[in-house]
Amino acid sequence: MKYSVKTTKWNKFVGDGIVFFVDCKNWEKELLEIDREFDKQLIKTAKADNFTAGEGAIYTLPTYGKIEATFIVLVGIGAAKDFDLYTLRKVAALLSKYARNLKKETLALDLSFEIIARFAPQDVGRTIVEGMNLGGYSFSKYKKNNEVHPLKQVVLLTNAARLGHLANGIAEGALLADATVYARDLINEPAQTMTPAYLAAQAKQLAKLPGITVQILEKKEIEKLGMNAFLSVAQGSSLPPKFIKLEYKGGRKKVVIVGKAITFDTGGHSLKDAKNMETMKLDMAGGAAILGVFSALSKLKPKMTVVGLIAACENMVGPNATKPGDIVRAMNGTSIEVLNTDAEGRLTLADVLSYAVQEKPEAIVDLATLTGACVVALGEDIAGLFANDQKLTHALIKSGEAAGEKLWPMPLEKEYRDLIKGDIADLRNIAKNRYGGAVTAALFLEEFVAGIPWAHADIAGPAFVEKETPVVPKGASGFGVRTLLEWLKNIDF
Ligand code: BES
Ligand code: ZN
Ligand code: ZN
Repeated sequence: MKYSVKTTKWNKFVGDGIVFFVDCKNWEKELLEIDREFDKQLIKTAKADNFTAGEGAIYTLPTYGKIEATFIVLVGIGAAKDFDLYTLRKVAALLSKYARNLKKETLALDLSFEIIARFAPQDVGRTIVEGMNLGGYSFSKYKKNNEVHPLKQVVLLTNAARLGHLANGIAEGALLADATVYARDLINEPAQTMTPAYLAAQAKQLAKLPGITVQILEKKEIEKLGMNAFLSVAQGSSLPPKFIKLEYKGGRKKVVIVGKAITFDTGGHSLKDAKNMETMKLDMAGGAAILGVFSALSKLKPKMTVVGLIAACENMVGPNATKPGDIVRAMNGTSIEVLNTDAEGRLTLADVLSYAVQEKPEAIVDLATLTGACVVALGEDIAGLFANDQKLTHALIKSGEAAGEKLWPMPLEKEYRDLIKGDIADLRNIAKNRYGGAVTAALFLEEFVAGIPWAHADIAGPAFVEKETPVVPKGASGFGVRTLLEWLKNIDF
């Protein structure tokens, strides 16, 4: 999809359709001038057809040659008082699906109405592009009939004063959406292809971008580092683990971002049932999000060094797989009783976080599809955010708001620490009771960050959607990519 900005007046645009965003209360008033061109039939017809400008309602009228464009498209945004950038992203996503389904190729979006013009133009450009590119996404490479007809040209019509800002917003939105789409493609790829080696090869590709280096540690080196918790998860698989390290050098200060990357989670000997295993290719969504972030860093150019760490392996059943009750010693010396092999994410992360600490960063942030309990607590749309640092919590939640990704603060409750103390080792990998599973998992991770400012986002809910939403088609969402990029852009130490 190509975007451009122009100061062309709406009735001079040549193309398939001219789009107006309208709210429930003022839509008739806003359209009065336009209606004059149509002998006052436009509003009358829309009303007769029960158009009320409700959120996401899209109404099309032919122009019968009265103006250059073939159609007028009205996009309802609902109540003006509730309208924010989040809703704009949503309706832009719906518009791109609508255009795709009707095989429209060129649309102009008139942005002159007050309802849109009250936002900063850069935000408007960014949000519209995010919404349209993400809403129009589909993973269709395995379909026989995989023809899609995405829009080709989108022209944003505005005044001269807003033009430059809007263009900047478009570039920003395209960068953020591309990085998200890249992560979605990796996550949607089935585990038969998306192996640890394949993920590592994808990471290697990113080293072609300016300022980015990538290092892959093989099993031997992982052993040498003492990452036995990570290795204990990998040992049930015939495929070797890969430890992926990416680095972007942007300044003296450093942050580490970490992503869980189990390329398939069967649960191991603590086997998942068929229903719960169905979507477990998603279990590398955290790692994919880290690659998504790195795909955009050389253009975003944040002013600090960013290290990305991904411990990639499969969690399988097999003659060599870890047995419940086995004890492993993590890289930082902590011993762990593996009582449930399905709580494997925290084992791989224990070693990655120990490694992250040795980097001596200002902050560590991890993204992990860690617990079903977090989905029970917050539902499918919201990630749980755990942190040992209030400033970090605040910065990430604000970044999430700007990105249109929902994160909610969760407690690292000290009183629950006893629940993960081991009987014959230092820690156990599942809590002693079944309550607060997202919290006890986060407390487990906290044992490995050595007090460094750290945040953990449990993205088990939003990483993968089972039911299509406007911005996220069924499947991978790419959750976390845009929040992290926003955070890295604005970070101040
Ligand atoms: N990968 C899963 C968590 C998950 C569940 C992600 C649903 C996305 C959707 C994780 O490895 C897991 O199996 N966790 C267990 C932990 C339990 C054994 C303490 C869970 O949530 O059931
Ligand atoms: Zn698991
Ligand atoms: Zn898992």
